[in-house]
Amino acid sequence: MTSFVSDKPVAQPEPVSPMIQLTGIEKRYGNFTALHRVSLDVMQGEVRVLIGPSGCGKSTLLRSINLLEHPDGGTVRVGDDSIQFGPRTKLPRAKVLERFRAGVGMVFQQFDLFPHMTALENVMSGPRFVKNTPLAQAREFALTMLAKVGMVERAGQLPSQLSGGQQQRVAIARALAMQPKVILFDEATSALDPELVQEVLSVMKALAREGATMVIVTHEMRFARDVADRVSFMDSGRIVEEGTPAEVIGHPGEERTKAFLSHFRALAAA
Ligand SMILES: Nc1ncnc2c1ncn2[C@@H]1O[C@H](COP(=O)(O)OP(=O)(O)O)[C@@H](O)[C@H]1O
Ligand SMILES: [Mg+2]
Repeated sequence: MTSFVSDKPVAQPEPVSPMIQLTGIEKRYGNFTALHRVSLDVMQGEVRVLIGPSGCGKSTLLRSINLLEHPDGGTVRVGDDSIQFGPRTKLPRAKVLERFRAGVGMVFQQFDLFPHMTALENVMSGPRFVKNTPLAQAREFALTMLAKVGMVERAGQLPSQLSGGQQQRVAIARALAMQPKVILFDEATSALDPELVQEVLSVMKALAREGATMVIVTHEMRFARDVADRVSFMDSGRIVEEGTPAEVIGHPGEERTKAFLSHFRALAAA
């Protein structure tokens, strides 16, 4: 009998499984389908940028990754935690959902810091109340995270005493304090005055360079080109086109992508 077993050692490829894996995610609001069986793989250390017109489902997709939305069908996996959705599947217990969410940090468009807490208290709140981290340890780590976003001198101030850009940097520190496996950004700079956008984008770029796994929804095309490993273009609840920034933003193949990007080119030329 012929043996197919070689006596030479064969280099085994490293098993690579995505850090975020969405499979067939379906989301309906009444009769309206916001997501049509969307699948998305994001590797560890990857920066994925989602672009697309208003209402195409970007926020719904992001919110499905950290279970702020419960999809009507499909599977959401982040690291080793996986949750299946569908008419015949029961939602896991609250504790399991909470643990899942703790692994997924999110930064929103509206600065959503707790208004009655200082920057430091905001950053400490997750570790303290979700993870029961001892006070001194939570405080030290929170200060380290505030330093990372250049906000340690403002640790004692309330959100109302900070600019929008500073509040967003604190919100990023708050997400990081949970040591999440991935961080999601939903138009984190859209509500900022133009002169405050860059300070937030630079913090995001620094995280990307450190190897954080990030999914970013943004309309800042130049930033998207600079920071993204891969870009996904969404339209009407579907991912229409996916590739490197040079491909999707530089040389889009789909008409809908071209039409969407033409608005930004018009702006840039104006
Ligand atoms: N809670 C909701 N109830 C009904 N429709 C919703 C709800 N949330 C989002 N939608 C609809 O789903 C679609 C996708 O919304 P969204 O994910 O917010 O889009 P994007 O973030 O790309 O602007 C939109 O048409 C929006 O009107
Ligand atoms: Mg949105």
